[in-house]
Amino acid sequence: MNQFTSPAWGYWIGAVTIVSLIGLFVFLRATARQTVFRDRQGKVIATTGHVWDDDLQEFNNPLPRWWMGLFVLTLLFAALYLVLYPGLGFWGGVLGFTSQKMYQQESRAYEARIAPIYAAYDKLDVARLSEDPAAMATGQRMFLTYCAQCHGSDAGGSKGFPNLTMQSEKSFLYGNQPATLVQTITDGRMGMMPPMGQALGSRQAVVDVANYVRSLSGLSHDAALAARGKPLFVANCAACHGVDGGGNQMIGAPNLSDQNWLFGSSLQTIEHTIEHGRTGHMPAQKDNLNADKIHVLAAYVYGLSHGRRAATP
Ligand code: HEC
Ligand code: HEC
Repeated sequence: MNQFTSPAWGYWIGAVTIVSLIGLFVFLRATARQTVFRDRQGKVIATTGHVWDDDLQEFNNPLPRWWMGLFVLTLLFAALYLVLYPGLGFWGGVLGFTSQKMYQQESRAYEARIAPIYAAYDKLDVARLSEDPAAMATGQRMFLTYCAQCHGSDAGGSKGFPNLTMQSEKSFLYGNQPATLVQTITDGRMGMMPPMGQALGSRQAVVDVANYVRSLSGLSHDAALAARGKPLFVANCAACHGVDGGGNQMIGAPNLSDQNWLFGSSLQTIEHTIEHGRTGHMPAQKDNLNADKIHVLAAYVYGLSHGRRAATP
C-alpha cells in the first residue's frame, strides 16, 4: 500500500471480495433449489409465463448440471487463487508472489544471458570496440534510449546540448578521448559560465567583447569594437577560455576559436551569454547504467567523433 492511501482501503477491498464470493455462492444455491416451479396441486408448470416476440416462451427447466458445476469450479478457483496470490487487501498470498519480484527475476535472468556478450566487449578498449558493428548497434540502441532526448537521435545536439559528432577533439567541451568520455557519462558534467555583465561594467563593454569573440573564429565583426574588447577579454575571460580563446577542457569552457557553437554565434546570442552567463547539466548515468553499458556508450560516442557516422535510426 502506498503512503498516500489510507490502510482502511486494504480491509475494504478484502471485505468486498469475500462478501461477493459468499454472496455469489448463496445466490447460486438459492436459485438451484427452486429447480422447477409447481402449482398448488404439485403439478409441474410448463412455462414461466414469459413471452417474447409473440411466440418465444421461457420454459420452466432447472439450470443444467454442467453449468452449475462450472460455476462452482470458478468459485473454488477464486478461493484457491486468493489463498495463493495477493488479492485480498493486505494478504500477500502463501506463494509470496509480487510483480516486483517477478520483474527482478526476469531482469536477473536477462542480465545473466547478456553478461557474456558484455564481458567480450569489456576486453576490447573503447577505440577498438567502436569498430565492432554488433557492439555499435547495441550502443546506438542505448544512445536512442538514454541520450537522444537531449543530444538528438543523430547525436548532433542542439542549443545548450553539445554536438557529439564533432571530429576535432579541441571542439569538445571536455574532450572525446576514451577515459574522458567514460568519466563524462558516468559522473555527469556541470558547465558553468558566470554572468559577466557586472564585471565588464557597461553594456558597451559587453558589445566590444562580443565582437572580439566573433573575431576569434573569423566571423564578421566590427574591428574597432573588437580591438577595444581584446584587453577586456584577456582580463575577464582568458582565465577560463584561454588567452587565444581555445577553451579549457578541465572546466568545460568551450573553444571560442572554432566553428562549433553550443549556444550560437550571432552577436546577440554571444552578448546574452556574456551578460547572463550559462549553465549546462549533463546528468550522471552511473545510477542508471552499469560500467559495461557505459563502456559501450563511450565507444559509440568515440566512434561518432572519429569518422563513423550515426546510423539513421
Ligand atoms: C538531460 C539531458 C542530457 C542527457 C539525457 C544526456 N546528456 Fe550528455 N550532455 C548534456 C548537456 C547539457 C551537456 C553539456 C554539459 C555542460 O554544459 O557542461 C552534455 C555533455 C555531454 C558530453 C560532453 C561533450 C563535450 O563536448 O565534451 C558527452 C560525451 C555526453 N554528454 C554524452 C552523453 C551520453 C552518452 C548520454 C546518454 C547516456 C547523455 N550524454 C545523456 C545533456 C544530456
Ligand atoms: C569561470 C569560467 C568562465 C569565465 C570567467 C568566462 N566563461 Fe565563458 N564559458 C564558460 C563555460 C564553462 C561555458 C560553457 C557553459 C555551459 O557549458 O553551459 C562558457 C560559455 C561561453 C560562451 C558560449 C560558447 C558557445 O559555444 O556557444 C561564450 C561565447 C563565452 N563563454 C564567452 C565568454 C566571455 C566573452 C567571457 C568574458 C567576458 C567569459 N566567457 C568568461 C566559462 C567561463
